[in-house]
Amino acid sequence: MNTTARQECIAADCGATYDLGDVLFACRKCGALLDVRYDWDRCEPPKSLHFFEERWGARKASHESRLDASGVWRFHDLLPFAVAGEAVTIGEGRTMLQQADGLSSAMGMKPGRLFLQYEGFNPSGSFKDNGMTAAFTMARKLGKRRVACASTGNTSASLALFARHTPTVNGEPMQAIVFVGGGKIALGKLAQALDYGAKTIQIDGDFDACMRIIEAAADRLQLYVVNSVNPFRLEGQKTIMYRVLEALNWEVPDWIIVPGGNLGNSSAFGKAFMELKELGLVDRLPRLAIVNATGANTLYDLYENRGLRWNGGRWDREMIDGFYADRRAQGLAATTIASAIEIGRPVNLPKALRSLDAMNGGVRQVSDEAILDAKAMVGAHGYGCEPASAASVAGLRLLLDEKTVSPSDRVVCILTGHALKDPDATIRYHQGGGRLANAPVRCAADIEALARVLGAS
Ligand code: F0G
Repeated sequence: MNTTARQECIAADCGATYDLGDVLFACRKCGALLDVRYDWDRCEPPKSLHFFEERWGARKASHESRLDASGVWRFHDLLPFAVAGEAVTIGEGRTMLQQADGLSSAMGMKPGRLFLQYEGFNPSGSFKDNGMTAAFTMARKLGKRRVACASTGNTSASLALFARHTPTVNGEPMQAIVFVGGGKIALGKLAQALDYGAKTIQIDGDFDACMRIIEAAADRLQLYVVNSVNPFRLEGQKTIMYRVLEALNWEVPDWIIVPGGNLGNSSAFGKAFMELKELGLVDRLPRLAIVNATGANTLYDLYENRGLRWNGGRWDREMIDGFYADRRAQGLAATTIASAIEIGRPVNLPKALRSLDAMNGGVRQVSDEAILDAKAMVGAHGYGCEPASAASVAGLRLLLDEKTVSPSDRVVCILTGHALKDPDATIRYHQGGGRLANAPVRCAADIEALARVLGAS
């Protein structure tokens, strides 16, 4: 086993450490989340970020070349829990930062200031592949055969795809088991899980119910859980930030804006930047805005209304437990059109608090209507994303209106998933008279009628 990396409890007064091969998703001593930590002095991290440019563009069929062509493993020096040769890769993370000048000016910002990190271009159509490649690398290293997740859809699609491409130590494919809330998952995502052959279990309940059952069943059924409580998954998701920096010629932007669901991305982005700072590879951190849907606003409520903070690793656990107990007593559950972030009990909450602390961050909530309008704007400018992703752009709208973000700031919004993941939501918006609706036009199969419809005589 790797001796330069370990798992470590994130709580300041605990700090328990575990071997990389211990499969556990919470500290045995205090129940807090775990991090993957490195002894950087013994890992030989790069001296400059420009070093990574040499690797980009490798296109040969060898394993090394495939690793360099992966947007995750190209940065393996910054996630050295596995040696490069062990990595499972299917070409994840080959995504681009798009300079969105049209959208920028529609939002009242200057050209060259708004960028979209378009994670829908991943093999399974969402950012999850960045994390899944890392979690599957660990699953294979540990000789696991049964991989499972609770999901609002994208994690299950990504898991199902990676399972097909990851032989176990005996050469059989991994068994993929996904738990989804009955009726809670967008069609495109369900279709992927079924098509890639995952055992798909629809639980009577929502994502939070799926998460509870998987945590209870993991040991007994020998499930290797690849939700973002798995700290190795978040190591892969750090690379989204490395690619953003690379595209900006290693200049740190002013803002990163990300939708908040289970808060895996928010956690991973903070860790990415804290480590780069620790290594002396960046001199400052961008600010972080995490955007909840109003109907799934646990982080917003706790952070902005009740003042919950990281507090040097001594966050108020009683406040969180009390919050959940109240919600349960009142029968409240998360509900939003952005089904991917319809989560009431985000598992990475304390890590997200840490990111907010390190990145001088803030949390905002946006209505379903604002999300769908933002999604239509993103689509109309030629990018396209699913509703949850557009929460980042709706959040930017709000931050501009309240003058927290200035039109001259350099802003990166993360578009987490592809437009085709949830075509139903898109069609309902356009046919149902949304503010920016582009409804289909009925026309007789007749050239005169067509001319009238097109306004030509
Ligand atoms: N955007 C999309 C498209 C997602 O699928 C998710 C999460 C998020 C944003 C939120 O990201 O959890 O890192 O805060 N989807 C999970 C799933 C929960 O099961 O697919 P987060």
